[in-house]
Amino acid sequence: MNRPRGPMPAGPVHRGRRALVQSLLRSLAALPVAALPLAAAVPRLLRAADAGDPCAALPPLESVLAVAEFEALAKAVLPPAHFGYMATGVDDDRTVAWNHDAFSLLEIRASRFVDVSRFDMGVTLFGTRWPTPLYLSAVSSQRAFHPEAELAAARAAASRQALMMLSGFSSTAPEDVAAARGAPVWQQVYPTDDFDVTRAVIERAERAGAPAIAITVDNRSGRYNETLQRAMRADTRTCTQCHVGNSHDGVRKAPLYAGIDVSRVTESTQPSNLRPAFLDRVRAVVKGRLVVKGIVTGEDAATCVRHGADAVVVSNHGGRDEESLRSTIECLPEVAKACGGRIPVLLDGGIRRGTDVFKALALGASAVGIGRPQVWGLATYGQAGVEAVLDIYARELRSIMRQAGTPDVASITRSHVVTREQAARFLPG
Ligand SMILES: Cc1cc2nc3c(=O)[nH]c(=O)nc-3n(C[C@H](O)[C@H](O)[C@H](O)COP(=O)(O)O)c2cc1C
Repeated sequence: MNRPRGPMPAGPVHRGRRALVQSLLRSLAALPVAALPLAAAVPRLLRAADAGDPCAALPPLESVLAVAEFEALAKAVLPPAHFGYMATGVDDDRTVAWNHDAFSLLEIRASRFVDVSRFDMGVTLFGTRWPTPLYLSAVSSQRAFHPEAELAAARAAASRQALMMLSGFSSTAPEDVAAARGAPVWQQVYPTDDFDVTRAVIERAERAGAPAIAITVDNRSGRYNETLQRAMRADTRTCTQCHVGNSHDGVRKAPLYAGIDVSRVTESTQPSNLRPAFLDRVRAVVKGRLVVKGIVTGEDAATCVRHGADAVVVSNHGGRDEESLRSTIECLPEVAKACGGRIPVLLDGGIRRGTDVFKALALGASAVGIGRPQVWGLATYGQAGVEAVLDIYARELRSIMRQAGTPDVASITRSHVVTREQAARFLPG
């Protein structure tokens, strides 16, 4: 971010009382009526802001009922620029919103006469069994959200036995994250325009135990995130504590790249000349599973299969890269069709409810990733917040699976959803 004026206090929360009041009012106005009891937290939050730590006055964790409620609280406690970094999309952020809103294009068809007394939400990916189909997707720079950063997320993943995909631009080294997780984590990697660097980070991640490398292909250098730009201007702190040299360049900052010569990198998230042959080069380096993250078309999915990918992630980076106005749930059917069951298809973007998870599974996803919601939990309650977010999703997924008559993930099929368009033709003839 720019170098704003004024000191930045230590600790998880660094914002002025005035900014906090404004933000709280905006956040609370956006909350559903059901969440109004959270408004009781406002006076406490303000007093705690004066004392320098609004997190201390957050409402009890158990009073937060829905994943979306964490967002309002995160907005209240995070510095404007950090919240803006997390929330931002491109242009008007409409792809961010549509990623979630598009789930309401789908309705769920519930079957009544199915025995759900034996129940299992587990999924198997690359031979490993996970208790739910939810995973923590790659989110960079988590120290911007909580002092324990990725370590808190990893501990939450450990306690809930959830799959974690670590960002290549994480604030914490992969070895430390794997230790906190107590098990290997998938490593997300950005391609750079110096393949030696890409190879070196893949090799380092695999030495740290990563069984899968998720190579992200949806982040051409030079994206313009307007919401972030505005938030940075509204932020009045001095940020030299973390932004050494005011650098935002992941390859020059992130621990994954420490000790690697990055002097020739000019495009740090994706070379302009990325072509299918790049997948062959990566495939030749990756010893474990190769996951390609950021696929939104059937053609590209077919290319990934042809070039040796072990899985693809339907993702538009949470609407942060291009304002396509195309949600990931809309992209899923063509990607799933192109993959034809040969490799797993994962999906992220806009998953905010258990019903969203259910719909993605019905349209062919093997698992779904969450980005921003893990940050909301992390920024507010640290490890416990991420755990609570995972728990809410699991509770909601369990509920809709039971209601829909789907006792396990395999039983959730295309026939369990209809589009609103189909539903609108409910009167035959
Ligand atoms: C703050 C933030 C940082 C992110 N960093 C990365 C990253 O380093 N690598 C990556 O592949 N995706 C990154 N993503 C994208 C997520 O992995 C995921 O695709 C997206 O957040 C899913 O959408 P959701 O936020 O609506 O759940 C990031 C997302 C956010 C919000």
